[in-house]
Amino acid sequence: MAADGAELDVTRVTADRSPEAGESLDRDALRALQLERMQWSLHHAYTNVPHYRAAFDAAGVHPRDLKSLADLARFPFTTKKDLRDNYPYGLFAVPLGDIVRIHASSGTTGHPTVVGYTHDDITMWASVMARSLRAAGVTRDDIILNSYGYGLFTGGLGAHYGGEYLGATVIPMGGGNTEKQVQLIREFRPTVIMATPSYMLTIADEMANQGMDPSNTSLRVGMFGAEPWTNEMRREIETRLGIDAIDVYGLSEVIGPGVACECVETKDGPHIWEDHFYPEIIHPETGEVLPDGEPGELVFTSLTKVGLPIIRYRTRDLTRLLPGSARVMRRMGKITGRSDDMLIIRGVNVFPTQIEEILLRHDALCGHYQLQISRDNHLDKVDVLVEVRHELSDTLSNAQRAHISSAVAHEIKSGVGISVEVHVLETGRIERTLVGKARRVIDKRKKPD
Ligand code: DLL
Repeated sequence: MAADGAELDVTRVTADRSPEAGESLDRDALRALQLERMQWSLHHAYTNVPHYRAAFDAAGVHPRDLKSLADLARFPFTTKKDLRDNYPYGLFAVPLGDIVRIHASSGTTGHPTVVGYTHDDITMWASVMARSLRAAGVTRDDIILNSYGYGLFTGGLGAHYGGEYLGATVIPMGGGNTEKQVQLIREFRPTVIMATPSYMLTIADEMANQGMDPSNTSLRVGMFGAEPWTNEMRREIETRLGIDAIDVYGLSEVIGPGVACECVETKDGPHIWEDHFYPEIIHPETGEVLPDGEPGELVFTSLTKVGLPIIRYRTRDLTRLLPGSARVMRRMGKITGRSDDMLIIRGVNVFPTQIEEILLRHDALCGHYQLQISRDNHLDKVDVLVEVRHELSDTLSNAQRAHISSAVAHEIKSGVGISVEVHVLETGRIERTLVGKARRVIDKRKKPD
């Protein structure tokens, strides 16, 4: 251990990193635990990761400068670029021999982002995912169909380990092969499904294709995340499937699914498991820390991670912090979008979720939609493609479609401030992705990478 970190009693803090130690603390005890763990985490990163040592030194801060949680604001941010620059293992804080699992983001450009976990990290992850499942009302008596993709994506294995940690029965189906998903729902009778919200809709369409009533299955709860989705989408899923639709949030750089999750009794935004992941909201341009309640970019500092400690990681996710409700730990509002998903259409800032809200107010439309942006005569042009509800796919007349198109275009013009052309399509016309994260935007203005 470096001499300059010797004043911190790291052994004592290490002993206090057990996964469940913070779950039911009151606010004051939680803050005390967070401070102790944050000191440990900063120290761990500084001592063992050259990138953090250089970044802290350049900013003129040392882990011992953290005397209160607010002092975190003095430390530098970490970005996706830092992970890419240190590809593949440069940010790991332990020898590779201690890493038991690697995941990576698909990364459309350049190198993927690589993350690594020690045995303790996997246990912590499983325990926060199990906590998420418990918050959603899932117990060891449930049967979980896990339809998140297995592989380098953190969704499949992250959700899987959480289910097993809880003691539930997990069916490791993975993403894709939708006919089989429906067969398993019919025959294995799972009570819980974990999938992206857009993939859930695809599964519901397939149920209808196979003559099964989506609202009358064995399913009781769905754990949905990995992509932004609105409360309008929640209503659609809940009505169509007759289940509780719970928002589960996470990202690979922090751990994977299970960073935050809603409680079934309130469904008022995911509680952040802040005994392990300390949240801040910052102004996306100035980097200034904003008070709870203010909208901005979510930033996370890991408090207990060993393999890949992450300090002030800029998620690019836009939301706000809200007080605890069903649980003491703070909540995050629904993610309105990612700062890098924001479209600028003829100068107006637009997030796909704003369009989703408007589309789903129309009973005839469903949550399969895509925005295609092009440039026509130097002006931005937006085509909104949306599918009609499966049951209406064969019955809606052209005149009815035209009527819906113009009503939606009008609402988008007055609500969002942009002119769009709306195309109401039959079921299955909009592409589905394999891992299950919907591709909401195709921006043809951008040159291909
Ligand atoms: O998507 C982890 C995950 C898997 C979360 C399954 C929930 C369920 P990444 O592939 O690294 O990890 O993508 C992380 O997905 O920064 C958000 O932009 C988005 N995201 C994840 N959960 C939600 C959610 C997984 N509940 C990125 N609501 C994040 C909105 C979400 N966006």
